[in-house]
Amino acid sequence: MPDNNQQSMLRVESLNTYYGKAQILFDLQLKVHRAEMVVLLGRNGAGKTTTFKSIMGILPPRRGRITYKDVSIEKLPPFKTCALGLGYVPEDRRIFSSLSILENLEVGRQSPRHGFEAWTPERLFELFPNLGERRHQAGGTLSGGEQQMLTIARTLMGNPEMIILDEPSEGLAPVIVDQLAQTLLKLKKGGVSVLLAEQNLNFARFVCDRAYIIYQGSICHESPIESLPGEEYEKYCSI
Ligand SMILES: Nc1ncnc2c1ncn2[C@@H]1O[C@H](COP(=O)(O)OP(=O)(O)O)[C@@H](O)[C@H]1O
Ligand SMILES: [Mg+2]
Repeated sequence: MPDNNQQSMLRVESLNTYYGKAQILFDLQLKVHRAEMVVLLGRNGAGKTTTFKSIMGILPPRRGRITYKDVSIEKLPPFKTCALGLGYVPEDRRIFSSLSILENLEVGRQSPRHGFEAWTPERLFELFPNLGERRHQAGGTLSGGEQQMLTIARTLMGNPEMIILDEPSEGLAPVIVDQLAQTLLKLKKGGVSVLLAEQNLNFARFVCDRAYIIYQGSICHESPIESLPGEEYEKYCSI
């Protein structure tokens, strides 16, 4: 497929992001095409979360360009970035523990997007049956894996065309990770683009098309996931 701009949902160019005086990202580049699933691999502290916060406008870059569907977003606040159709599931999985599952979903509701069937709680319960069975229960009674599913489902209520997931499989039991993988593949089939950060290479290999490796705030490798060399992964990602 030609790598032209029209196909890019998200384009990040020469991103430089700081915490105060400390520079964390150095000329970082990446792209995500429509209905593509891309993984950002890297060890703890490499800059994955910082990259996502920069894209979302939570920690705007000091220099660089971020384009979502041909709109410059590097100066937009998070609510505007979300309103353009970019959903974000942060690593801390914050749900409202005293609200029911249904109410948690309602919190995420946003207007439908032209050309896409709008997400409803009923449609989401088909995708996440565990949540449907417990729709009237308080969010706080869910297991870690179910809470992770709920944060993803709530993000989908905003009808995003692309979602960014920060280490979605972290701390989940293997059987839940498998369920999550199947769910992400269904989303992809429905045309949603996905960018995720991961340290679980098997999970990434199962769901993703393309991989970037981030090391000390820069991208040091990019390839289709099936041709990711094991030695590159060992060198830059192993703990
Ligand atoms: N709030 C913060 N203030 C200062 N430095 C931070 C802050 N959050 C993260 N960092 C630093 O930024 C670097 C990248 O962190 P992060 O993006 O969280 O990495 P990753 O998500 O890949 O584990 C690390 O060196 C970390 O110590
Ligand atoms: Mg992180």
